[in-house]
Amino acid sequence: MTRKQKVAAAFAAAATTYDSAAEAQAKAADRLVELVTAEPLPAHPTVLEVGCGTGLLTRRLLPRIGGDWLVTDLSPAMVAAAQAAVGADKAQFRVMDGEHPDAPLGLYDLVVSNMAAQWFADMARAVCQLRARLAPGGRLVLSTLGAGSFAEWRAAHQALGLTCGTPAYPSADALAAQLPGGARVREETVTVRHDDALAFLTALKRIGADTPASGHTPLSPGALRRVARAMGSPVSITYDILYALIPAE
Ligand SMILES: C[S@@+](CC[C@H](N)C(=O)[O-])C[C@H]1O[C@@H](n2cnc3c(N)ncnc32)[C@H](O)[C@@H]1O
Repeated sequence: MTRKQKVAAAFAAAATTYDSAAEAQAKAADRLVELVTAEPLPAHPTVLEVGCGTGLLTRRLLPRIGGDWLVTDLSPAMVAAAQAAVGADKAQFRVMDGEHPDAPLGLYDLVVSNMAAQWFADMARAVCQLRARLAPGGRLVLSTLGAGSFAEWRAAHQALGLTCGTPAYPSADALAAQLPGGARVREETVTVRHDDALAFLTALKRIGADTPASGHTPLSPGALRRVARAMGSPVSITYDILYALIPAE
């Protein structure tokens, strides 16, 4: 199985539990709605959504701006969940890899994505592909994870000399450096509290975000217990959320 297939399978397995655990993702979706609606859009915009999940962002933004939407995700189970939550008559829904979008070029007034791009293998290339789908005057607006995410989890591993399976994420400056000229990056920290480290891991699984970095060897149960003990209880977990606003060429 490729990493991408593992990512899709993990999210598919989480389609029915996602909403109950996606606290940081819901906050990022709220902020994306603010960022998108702060600047004018056509009256009936064409919109492409990438990595829709269960439709947390779709359900918030579509009623606000209307328009013709193509709502997509890598995972067929997530596309089905979004379609059920949003309504099959409200948008088109399709399985699509956001890194290899088979959507029309130059069509969309808005390409939008909440907390999916951190799963891309090549952010710069994906942004280039998605930006090419924008109509003149359109914009690509996305949120993703930044370098400070899961700092407490990483620190506990480091203190014990263990390797953390959490993928590396870019700083705001590093993300900006990968984006085309004219792009703006904003940063926001969201903290999510869990009873303990194991509850944090359970929440990641319920979201489907439990695929480790490539090549990571899972910790033994004993090592995991040491990390959990080191973190104590309750635990506060940082989500360093980066928002990128990218104009059409
Ligand atoms: C953390 S969820 C976010 C879902 C949703 N946007 C939200 O606001 O809750 C990440 C989603 O990105 C999808 N995803 C991961 N890699 C993707 C890719 N390459 N192309 C499209 N979707 C992808 C996953 O299947 C999952 O549904």
